[in-house]
Amino acid sequence: MINLNDLKDIIEEIKSRCDIVDVISDYMHIEKSGSNYTGLCPFHTEKTGSFMVSKSKQIYKCFGCNAGGDVISFVMRWENVDFMEAVKILAKRCGITLNRNISEEERQKIQEINKFREIHTEAARFYFANLLSRKNPGYEYLKKRGLSDKIIKRFGLGYSLNSWNSLMNHLLAKGYDKADLVKCGLVTHKSETNKYYDRFRNRVMFPIFNYNGKVIGFGGRVLDDSLPKYLNSPETLIFNKRLNLYGLNISKKSIKDDTLILVEGYMDLISLYQNNIENVVATLGTALTIGQAKLIRKFAKNVIISYDSDQAGQNATLRAIDILLQADIKVKILNLKDCKDPDDFIKKYGFEGYKKAIDESDYYIKFKIDILKNKYNLQNDTQKMSFVEEATLLLRKLKSPIEKDLYAKYLSDLTNISIESIRANVGIKVKSNYNNSKNNTNNRKIEQMSKIQNGYLKVEAKFIKLLMENKKLRNSVLMDYEIEDFLFGDTKEIFDYIIKNKELDKITIDKIKSLNISEEYVKTIQSIPIEEINTYTLEGTKKIIDQIRKNIIDDEIKSMSDEIKQLSNKLELLKKNNDNTKEVDDKIMNLSLEILKREKIKKDL
Ligand code: GTP
Ligand code: MN
Repeated sequence: MINLNDLKDIIEEIKSRCDIVDVISDYMHIEKSGSNYTGLCPFHTEKTGSFMVSKSKQIYKCFGCNAGGDVISFVMRWENVDFMEAVKILAKRCGITLNRNISEEERQKIQEINKFREIHTEAARFYFANLLSRKNPGYEYLKKRGLSDKIIKRFGLGYSLNSWNSLMNHLLAKGYDKADLVKCGLVTHKSETNKYYDRFRNRVMFPIFNYNGKVIGFGGRVLDDSLPKYLNSPETLIFNKRLNLYGLNISKKSIKDDTLILVEGYMDLISLYQNNIENVVATLGTALTIGQAKLIRKFAKNVIISYDSDQAGQNATLRAIDILLQADIKVKILNLKDCKDPDDFIKKYGFEGYKKAIDESDYYIKFKIDILKNKYNLQNDTQKMSFVEEATLLLRKLKSPIEKDLYAKYLSDLTNISIESIRANVGIKVKSNYNNSKNNTNNRKIEQMSKIQNGYLKVEAKFIKLLMENKKLRNSVLMDYEIEDFLFGDTKEIFDYIIKNKELDKITIDKIKSLNISEEYVKTIQSIPIEEINTYTLEGTKKIIDQIRKNIIDDEIKSMSDEIKQLSNKLELLKKNNDNTKEVDDKIMNLSLEILKREKIKKDL
């Protein structure tokens, strides 16, 4: 056993050797933001990153769910292990030996894991023998599904007999303990009646291996249309369905072009494999997790998602895309055409067909744009504009200008809107000379220009025009807004005027002109078609207003990011001179927090 003083020393040593940024980067994707790092919190579901890691403080913190702590507590939570286990993981990582010090408890746990694995291997053998050594409905079913004997053996498929205790009796006869069989999920114990029975009965059995080829659980499929279709092993000491992937033990040997194909179903994977598509993995009946994405990333840089083509499959695809991107994986989407799942597809079009579909698979952004497109009627100009606005938001997130341009072109082709205006919206040319420029007024001018190009001005002008033209809408929204809600001085000025003259039926452009408004602004108001304004309802108006708020927030985020950049430079200097960095560090942390808060608000708009 480790004595407490030794332990303290060891922990200090571990902490000094395991930099929190390095450790967390190994588990998940984090990005540098100022002197800190941010990412999507792994401990709760979120779309914008509230998770922050401070290199200088060696702590992490999530402002969404309040998780936080040091490197050890991160490993505890992520690996779902206790303190000592986390210390061991980190010790191993940084080359500190703790072997001599394994506690009795720890030793027992390791033994238990080994025993459970043994039991599972034995169970898999039993199910396999049931399937192949005599006539049974499981084998008939798999034959009906078109599987060859070779593939059945390759995946070790089996059959659980239509009986209450055959597996239990078999394992008891091998000398295993009833309590262990229950604990590892193969036998169920009903405490009311004190009865024990096999969890899996009359099902085709899919042994689930970890990527090293150890059996850790089972999926069992019914032989007909009854429900539940699949029964999976429960979570046990050896089985975690969020951290393992079906088929990886086999497909890791057949990875081509640094690419894995991701499917939803066991049968999909096996069916593809039988047709010589071998670089496939499947999730285990849950949505893809970041842990699984990280595991994939150890083996491949690219993933082609090949989920079912129905609505549920599409939604799952959208979720999987984001998770895979977080794990720094390049993502493409395979189009199954008229087929419902990969199994269907390969039966109909064969290896060549699927191979072709792989080659033609779309970069994920195109898939997202296409899905978005289906939500709008592009014949209607207003809807078309909303579509373009949303789609450009997607494109803006792309890092590579080439990708941006490629899909700007795609968007332009879809909508017949000129490539130039889409490019401008996507921010392709809006690059930032202005960061380096020293002249302040010049800065402001360029900043103003970039805002205009980003469509900020247009949104505010649209709102103003609405207030000018439609008295009814004006009265229902006017009171909810204040001058501060707008970005442009001209908007503020006009808004003030409108409040004072809200009883007018219509506020004419001539009145506006007399307010000393810039020509640019007046032109923008005039360029907005009155027909468009007339189509707006209260709901549509609210959307515009939300957009205005987003603009403001974006603007604030931008200036705060700039400030962080400057502070980071200052920080470097301080460090060079060995000066105290605490104040600057704190400032950066606070600014980063403010940014996160705004991103949250923006998301909720
Ligand atoms: P077939 O329907 O036989 O072609 O199997 P499949 O593997 O293609 O299944 P499907 O596409 O319907 O579902 C995909 C995956 O979701 C399955 O492989 C299972 O992992 C999981 N799944 C499906 N149905 C259930 C269920 O009823 N319970 C649980 N726990 N998981 C399920
Ligand atoms: Mn299927």
